[in-house]
Amino acid sequence: MVRRLTAAAIRKRKGSVFPVITAYDAAFARFAEAAGIDVILVGDSLGNVVLGLPSTAPVELEDMERHGGAVARGSERAHVMVDLPFGSYEPSDADAVRSAVRLVKAGATSVKLEGGEKIASRIAAIAAAGIPVCGHIGVTPQTASLGDGFRMRRVRDRLIADARAVQTAGAYAIVLEMVDPEIAREVSATLEIPTIGIGSGPTCDAQVLVLYDALGMYPDPPSFVRAFADVAAVATDGLRAYAEAVRSGAYPPPALTSVLPAAGSQK
Ligand code: KIV
Repeated sequence: MVRRLTAAAIRKRKGSVFPVITAYDAAFARFAEAAGIDVILVGDSLGNVVLGLPSTAPVELEDMERHGGAVARGSERAHVMVDLPFGSYEPSDADAVRSAVRLVKAGATSVKLEGGEKIASRIAAIAAAGIPVCGHIGVTPQTASLGDGFRMRRVRDRLIADARAVQTAGAYAIVLEMVDPEIAREVSATLEIPTIGIGSGPTCDAQVLVLYDALGMYPDPPSFVRAFADVAAVATDGLRAYAEAVRSGAYPPPALTSVLPAAGSQK
């Protein structure tokens, strides 16, 4: 059996630059691994990009188990970090551990949760249960619409205190989402664990993007996103070609039709 990249190995990447991408299913987990990306985040952004929800808040633990498991089955050696969704860790440390255990049973190699100082005890409890945890500060999408929205975070002392609390609690890495790049640089230089930036400039140890944004599959990406492919166009062209071939009778070809079993013969 191939051994997956561990959280401890990711922690040792502090100071080197590495890519992280989100994925939500087995097919794209395979593509990511084939592309040489060995850290895959099953983000609760699946609520927006896969499930068509208005935010990540309604995403359930069962959604993360289902999609985390699919990504684990579609990959062999990548580290599969799975988001704890909103409501699955806030009530108590015990709830946080219970939810993290469910994600590990589904296939997660580590879990991620949002928040700084206020949720440090949740991070410590999960880490004490032997489950690697990644933190996430700056813009925290699960609660953004209830508070400061999706604006760049610039309160230096708050961000530094949150980052330190996450590290002290035992996280092996931390996502910095839409943190002022100068503060992200300072946080990255201060911490011993790798920082994974999204919309936080080039000085983080790693970068993460939402898969559907990176491949041009989502109609309204955030301003910091660069699309590295136009999969929306490729997919639409392919589906148009398929539809035209069916309508015109060009597909399926007569020879293929004749070798298919008769309807109902595969009981
Ligand atoms: O859910 C997600 O995709 C994330 C990234 C934006 C970091 O948390």
